[in-house]
Amino acid sequence: MTVLKKLTGFIGAEIEGLTLSETISGADAEFLKRSLAEYQVLVLRGQFLTPPEQKALTRVFGPALQLPYVAPLEEDPETIAVLKEASEAGGGVFGGEWHADFSFLANPPAGSVLNAIEIPEVGGDTVWASQTIAYDSLPAALKSVVDERRAVHVGKPYGVKFAPPAETRANASIRMTRGDPDADRETFHPAVITQPLTGRKALFLNPIYTTRLDGMTEEESQPILQEIYRHCTRPDFSCRHKWQPGDVVIWDNRTTLHYATNDYDGHRRLLYRTTFSGAAPV
Ligand code: SIN
Repeated sequence: MTVLKKLTGFIGAEIEGLTLSETISGADAEFLKRSLAEYQVLVLRGQFLTPPEQKALTRVFGPALQLPYVAPLEEDPETIAVLKEASEAGGGVFGGEWHADFSFLANPPAGSVLNAIEIPEVGGDTVWASQTIAYDSLPAALKSVVDERRAVHVGKPYGVKFAPPAETRANASIRMTRGDPDADRETFHPAVITQPLTGRKALFLNPIYTTRLDGMTEEESQPILQEIYRHCTRPDFSCRHKWQPGDVVIWDNRTTLHYATNDYDGHRRLLYRTTFSGAAPV
């Protein structure tokens, strides 16, 4: 029997009773898609998926994406190894700031799937924050700024203009293309989007990739964006996952932000990440 248990008051659900390595029936696929839209983050423990099984799961939600700038697995262009080696101490970590995956693309991933392979005994949790409750509870003065406005997203870690200093870059185990002038291109997305299945509105802004609000300079935008980020990353709106090998977590990349905690220097951490596409955010 399939059981869904909410993880917090606002975001996240754990699903028990589904074996994702088996062929996913039409009814289970509908249940997963509906649950993802509603709860935004789905946790399924003890799955131990192979990369092809992870891909099959990913395709339940939409076509698997091949992302630019981050080198995929040699054997699969649509899977990234999110790896930090035990030897990579004292540096940054991939995803170690609140973000939505690749929001700077014209059509950012609709969702992502992480499959835990090797996990430190403690640490390395991932945190997600619901951008639907963040929008619902946004003070009216800020709502009036973001409603009906677009925001500019830029592939900052991969471009030239905003390239992070070498010593603060994410860990070396993830090969990234840096210094591509094309990644400095500004992409416009609505600052508030609508989840297509639930009709709920969500903020679509993040500190890694959003540079400014349309109609404002970066300097004018930053104080407003910082105030929004303080609000939309509140612990009240978040759920935190303590990984175990075999865990699979799926998230709606348009209505959540996530953050990889970097508190496990000296320990190896490996997860496989796939992403799926959907209609462009509106
Ligand atoms: C990511 O940003 O996709 C990585 C998350 C994690 O490593 O916890």
